[in-house]
Amino acid sequence: MGSLGQPLTRVDGRLKVTGAAKYSAEFPLAGLAYAAIVQSTIPSGRITGMDTQAAEHSDGVLAVLTPANAPKLPAPESRLSLLQNDQVFYNGQPIAIVVADTLHEAQHAASLVRVRYEPTTPKLNFEAGFPFSYPGSYVGEPGDVSWGDVDKGLREAEVKIDQVYTTPIQHHNPMEPHATIAQWDGDRLTVHDATQYITNVKRSLAKMFGLPEDNVRVISLFLGGGFGCKGQVWSHVPLAAMAARKLNRPVKIVLERPQMFGPVGARPRTHQRVTLGATREGKLTAIRHEVHAHTSVIEDYLEPSAFPTRVMYACANIATIHRLVPLNLGTPTYMRAPGVATGTYALEVAMDELACQIKVDPLELRLRNYAEADPHTGNPFSEKSLRECYLRGAERFGWSKRSPEPRSMQRGSELIGWGMATETYPAVRDSASALVRLQPDGRVLVASGTHDIGTGMYTIMTQVAADAFGLSPDLIDARLGDTTFPKAPISAGSMSTASVTPAIQAAAEECKLKLLKLAAGDSQSPLRGMALEDLDFKDGRIFQKSAPNRSEHFTALLARNGGRPIETTAHTEFEESERYSMHSFGAVFAEVAVDPHLGVVRVPRVVAVYDVGRLLNEKTAKSQFIGGIVWGISLALHENTYVDARTGRIVNANLADYLVPVNADIGEIDVSAIGIPDTKLDPLGARGIGEIGITGTGAAIANAIYHATGKRFRHLPITPDKLLV
Ligand code: MOS
Repeated sequence: MGSLGQPLTRVDGRLKVTGAAKYSAEFPLAGLAYAAIVQSTIPSGRITGMDTQAAEHSDGVLAVLTPANAPKLPAPESRLSLLQNDQVFYNGQPIAIVVADTLHEAQHAASLVRVRYEPTTPKLNFEAGFPFSYPGSYVGEPGDVSWGDVDKGLREAEVKIDQVYTTPIQHHNPMEPHATIAQWDGDRLTVHDATQYITNVKRSLAKMFGLPEDNVRVISLFLGGGFGCKGQVWSHVPLAAMAARKLNRPVKIVLERPQMFGPVGARPRTHQRVTLGATREGKLTAIRHEVHAHTSVIEDYLEPSAFPTRVMYACANIATIHRLVPLNLGTPTYMRAPGVATGTYALEVAMDELACQIKVDPLELRLRNYAEADPHTGNPFSEKSLRECYLRGAERFGWSKRSPEPRSMQRGSELIGWGMATETYPAVRDSASALVRLQPDGRVLVASGTHDIGTGMYTIMTQVAADAFGLSPDLIDARLGDTTFPKAPISAGSMSTASVTPAIQAAAEECKLKLLKLAAGDSQSPLRGMALEDLDFKDGRIFQKSAPNRSEHFTALLARNGGRPIETTAHTEFEESERYSMHSFGAVFAEVAVDPHLGVVRVPRVVAVYDVGRLLNEKTAKSQFIGGIVWGISLALHENTYVDARTGRIVNANLADYLVPVNADIGEIDVSAIGIPDTKLDPLGARGIGEIGITGTGAAIANAIYHATGKRFRHLPITPDKLLV
């Protein structure tokens, strides 16, 4: 009944605000023991000895696991630190765990462990790595993609921009830290884990412990934020399972806030050289986007910052290049709009520099280079309404009232600046499964092994099932986050909505068909003997299409048929399209107010308009956009992880020194979407919206600061000290 698209309030909202929603650390199992992690204090070398006696004799301690005594795993992942050898690859690496009856006993005992090392010279100098860096790829995608002749395009250019933009290391700080509870029952393992990918945790634990996959169950009912850091299995997960097996007791590990900085991923540092060539009118003749990003010495993770440059503007000559620089730091990972957040920052500031140089309005410059088709493949876009985003955004923001000269707009003593940028994120879909069950009590269960990382998945599943069955959302129970449910992909890459909703729709269609067949074949049903084409289901009733008064409620039918539920599971496949290029776009406009004496930048308002296909829920969608924009403001002005150059230690590994915006930093944020369905991606035409909001926003703010002050900042974050120089 048209619940799709409606601003339905989160169905799990009440559970969350009343504390009834159970997060992964909140299962008080009988006999639960607590583990604390001991971390390395050098960036590189080997452990020559550990003095664990004091820890072992400390109150409540059950076990101290070190490389010297930890159980050997059949197939440990070498990217993780599982106490299988004495190597140290970064400062903060897990090198032992202490398990005790209580958390505080474990933490205290962990502080008593003394470690001896044989250090080796660490690689910590990012720039020094450049000549030795090597090409990386990104989950199957090549790191280097080029077309046309960039050198020729640059020779033909009448104007050029050639600048280096940098972004610092950033750390995810979800409110809920990583948390795992592991429990064994014989050779069966059950894990409550704060993860964006239960299926992978299951697969990976089964492999490492040499178990059949189905001996492992992973549960993740609620997440207090994921942002990418919970997309991977990190060391603490198998360590919890290892300790639980050793002690034959359930074991819980919750990372302390400082431990969130190091062993569980980060956005890597980037150094991006962007070279633009253009005609005097601003038509792009060449783009070269060369990215250096760091990775660890144990695993390659590529921040694909030049990816957005492959789709953003019409240009015949483009080179996108990625190079990895391995450092003795924890392995970086996906962080909200990986690559695209940092890459759109560099590209979109460069575009602003070009606009300023040729004195063309920044929005007009984008329109002059509008990509009607994919600039690389020439394929049409499955759906693209970016032009409408630009125009509607400009209108809502009042862009036409902008005076182009820097430092030309003031309010009282503050310098006002207006900047804009293009946003983009790939439209991703993967294969997924879901089950639906019509229950004798009149309710409908919809379940899939997906996750709600705070995005609203429970709510969307409810709406899609309600719509497919023609039932009120109140009658739907959505379940997720359990590997006993049918498989769904990782909840990352903004892909869950487009992946999981088609499976729910397909399962519901099959389930309805089963129901109609049952009615037609039931001698006591008013619908007995009817052709299936003449039957339909709505509001809980099966009815004859040509005579809708002839009907019965499905609960009556189920009651007569033994009171059993009717259930179906559907799997929907998706293969990447070779005919269409699938991407979301948006336009973001920002106003900054700069205090010229203090260097403080405020962001009174941001307007953004999105081209993301159809919105399935206006309320949760807006929250996603706003959340992304807040993070974009944070990217531009606040976030920065400092690494001690000698020790590789994270200096500001806490929420006091690692800056993120608070409410007082955020002004008015106006978000809306064009809403044209992209049915080439999925039947409902909904593209993911979790990440696009952070893209472009950093650049829009940097460009607004230039407009306000006349000073160009190419190195994030733009902090007051930089503004005062
Ligand atoms: Mo998102 S960074 O792909 O979880």
